[in-house]
Amino acid sequence: MARIAVLTSGGDAPGMNAAIRSVVRSALAAGFEVVGFRTGYTGLIAGDWRKLGAREVGGVMHLGGTMLGTTRCEMLRREQGRRDARRSLESAGAAALVVIGGNGSQTGAYELAKLGAPVIGIASTIDNDLYGSDVTIGATTAVDVALQSIDRLRVTAASMRRAFLVEVMGRDCGYLALVAGIAGGAEAIVVPEAKSDPAALAEELRAAYARGKSHAIAVVAEGAEYDGDALMEYFRAHRERLGFEMRLTKLGHVQRGGAPGSFDRMLGTTLGAAAVEAAAQGRFGRLIGYRDGKAADTPLDEVAGRTRPADAGLLELARVLAM
Ligand code: F6P
Repeated sequence: MARIAVLTSGGDAPGMNAAIRSVVRSALAAGFEVVGFRTGYTGLIAGDWRKLGAREVGGVMHLGGTMLGTTRCEMLRREQGRRDARRSLESAGAAALVVIGGNGSQTGAYELAKLGAPVIGIASTIDNDLYGSDVTIGATTAVDVALQSIDRLRVTAASMRRAFLVEVMGRDCGYLALVAGIAGGAEAIVVPEAKSDPAALAEELRAAYARGKSHAIAVVAEGAEYDGDALMEYFRAHRERLGFEMRLTKLGHVQRGGAPGSFDRMLGTTLGAAAVEAAAQGRFGRLIGYRDGKAADTPLDEVAGRTRPADAGLLELARVLAM
């Protein structure tokens, strides 16, 4: 019986388990056997796999993280590591490998595809910065987790008339900051896609108080030109002149560990099934993403080493709405 292998790689994202479950059950339904490599490419190189049946993927849909474990695998960056991975895939008897992960993971998948490995990627990262997918598994849940914190911070900020900087993840992409900032009613949003100026930000926050607001919240992307720490340094140095107190909250990995919302469960499920369909049709070397409301694939050579910036239109909207 032909075998499909699956692994999760890079930063975990809520909805990865839904994708694993969907790959396994869709593959079983199509007559394949399924094996899962533990801890991403590290497990692939080490030949660390186990068979996955329908029951092994039961009760995981609602859990964040990944039941298979994941790593950022340094070995795969080296030619020897890639050759070992290719060999290990063959020893496991896999006719296809589904890689659930973000940018680095899909670049790794492309490198394996160049060695002739039958690879199919599934777009999954909380950063939502993968070329070829309008939205990636984990991004909407990560936004919701950030939003819960922003809503709470506004309560204390308003009570004490304070300003808050909330730093969110996203690597070099401002998607999480933009969406959490707009949905959280932030007074200012700082993203890598736009030049940031601490003095201009201070003025925006000061102006928010002047317009009668009881608080001022700025959502800052970790990859922005000035991140949370750099902005705090500026605010501390100019405390007297600015006339308001600032606190910094870094949400960090908290954003990654949430239980997947309905959208991420459905997205993982849809993309998992589409990946198995691609495997059954022998369409390899492609990333399965989500475009225009349905699964759509893109050649991995177009995806590898490329990122998708946050929507500049949202940036403009954020400015208008902060009045
Ligand atoms: O790519 C997902 C992500 O959570 C980024 O937003 C963040 O910059 C990075 O991973 C953190 O990586 P690590 O978990 O390896 O510290």
